[in-house]
Amino acid sequence: MLSTLLIPTLLTGAAIAAPSPAKRALPPAFFLAGDSTTASGGGWGDAFVSSLSNGATGENFGDSGATTGSFRAEGFWADTLAAVESASGSYTPYVTIQFGHNDQKTTSGLNAFKANLIQFNTDVLEAGGIPIFLTSLTRRNFEDGVVRDDLENVRNLTIEAATEVGALWANLNVASRAYVNEIGEEDSHTYNLSEGDNTHLNEEGGVVFAGIVGILLKQLDESFDEFIDIDEELVEAVAAGEYYWPEL
Ligand SMILES: *[C@@H]1O[C@H](CO)[C@@H](O)[C@H](O)[C@H]1NC(C)=O
Ligand SMILES: *[C@@H]1O[C@H](CO)[C@@H](O)[C@H](O)[C@H]1NC(C)=O
Repeated sequence: MLSTLLIPTLLTGAAIAAPSPAKRALPPAFFLAGDSTTASGGGWGDAFVSSLSNGATGENFGDSGATTGSFRAEGFWADTLAAVESASGSYTPYVTIQFGHNDQKTTSGLNAFKANLIQFNTDVLEAGGIPIFLTSLTRRNFEDGVVRDDLENVRNLTIEAATEVGALWANLNVASRAYVNEIGEEDSHTYNLSEGDNTHLNEEGGVVFAGIVGILLKQLDESFDEFIDIDEELVEAVAAGEYYWPEL
């Protein structure tokens, strides 16, 4: 089956003008805000930062268990914004924002989710950065051979927030779910962080889903091409919907 990753209009969106030519001459810095599916030790963030090349830089601020509310309350957001401010001038700073898995666990969390994302957008712009919203990484949870990740509500709210403020966004939820559906239950569970944990990623899974994030970001902005280094075999496997296991 051909991957829907090949249809960029379905998976990414943007309504803002491109950054000024002067800014684009600087290499990008990617600061990653998110929950455990981005964080070290179970997410895609560290592998993504490792894939940055040609003078690009990045830092993974993902926090295990974070909601959009706790990420701010516990100081992770202030750290992210401080990184944006200190990178300005030497880099074009981007902040990827990927939440939802924990926000959706309580009614109050879900109610606050979209407004918190919109405030994140304002804060990044004020700090001199460019926000990129990512919908929630899929859970590799199968029912009758099909992924049921139960993330549609937070996916929709993330896209609504991004389009309302005219920010860049990419549909990581749909792209990651499409890939997992294509490779199937057994292969996708080889990326489990531990036996029985099909939400979080082991190191190999981190590389695979960081690659999918990189593919989506390059679809959003082709100037990222030279700065995000993804194994060509992984790019081909994702496009073909075929299983990939990195040699680490
Ligand atoms: C998400 O958005 C789609 C497309 O607009 C809609 O069909 C679906 O009902 C929405 N789902 C939820 C849970 O809001
Ligand atoms: C991965 O997690 C799922 C869900 O708990 C489980 O069904 C599967 O057996 C696990 N596989 C491995 C290899 O850990």
